[in-house]
Amino acid sequence: MLDCGSSGIIDRVSPGVALKEPIIYLGQTEVDKRIANCFSVERQILKRLGHHPRIGDGILLAEASHGNLQAYLDSHPSTNLGQRLTWCRQVAEAIDYIHSCGIIHSDLRPANLLVHEITPGARDLQLCDFGGSVCQELGLDGFSLPDGPFYNPVFKNESSTLLDLFGMGSIFYTILTGTWPYKTSPGRFASIDDRLDWEERIVYPNFKAEKFPDVGHLPGGNVILKCWMRQFATARDALTALEEALLGLEE
Ligand SMILES: Nc1ncnc2c1ncn2[C@@H]1O[C@H](COP(=O)(O)OP(=O)(O)O)[C@@H](O)[C@H]1O
Ligand SMILES: [Mg+2]
Repeated sequence: MLDCGSSGIIDRVSPGVALKEPIIYLGQTEVDKRIANCFSVERQILKRLGHHPRIGDGILLAEASHGNLQAYLDSHPSTNLGQRLTWCRQVAEAIDYIHSCGIIHSDLRPANLLVHEITPGARDLQLCDFGGSVCQELGLDGFSLPDGPFYNPVFKNESSTLLDLFGMGSIFYTILTGTWPYKTSPGRFASIDDRLDWEERIVYPNFKAEKFPDVGHLPGGNVILKCWMRQFATARDALTALEEALLGLEE
């Protein structure tokens, strides 16, 4: 097994090819029905997205050579700034692309970005996990919402492009600092309860009060803040602002 998410198990079936299979609990439970819906949604959404350099292929998936971005950041804390800035731009490109296809991801987080060596030595990002996504035109809804600092309770239970852009701001912050917004150290929580407690006590009260971590010192910090403050109308606007902020900073 390569990895396990909330709905799927990822296995390598041959070199460079990964298979995402549903986790089956008891066959007919509500959870099984939700996961079956996620797989159906993801299959149809990947078909609609077609081939794009920022999207992994699948549900027989091309295996990303370096796993997910969260694990990569945790195990490569000295990744240089140029690479981190490139990743921010690639995340914005991926979200701009899916939104242009009428798709809301609705579960943006570093674990749903894959690090893939497309050209030798490169570490490029691809967005994955469309099981929770929404496509109004196709009538698809995977009924997922992000959690942790990639979600803000002001969005309630509604998936929206602005919710994706909010999560994108938190992903930029995590890429540039190595830690989740409001988390004091990198790495995982000891337990899910610890994470939930931290969200309720620290993250969501601050977000609800429109308070965010200081980003003044970060390159592109103004873009992160505008994502959090819901001041970009579209991912394209955010991508353009990011490119302007990063002019001359990338290696
Ligand atoms: N194509 C892939 N190549 C390598 N690893 C992958 C691939 N797809 C998913 N994974 C790994 O499996 C994990 C779970 O996959 P994901 O599609 O996010 O499923 P879930 O819906 O269960 O969260 C990802 O966080 C990543 O670490
Ligand atoms: Mg996932």
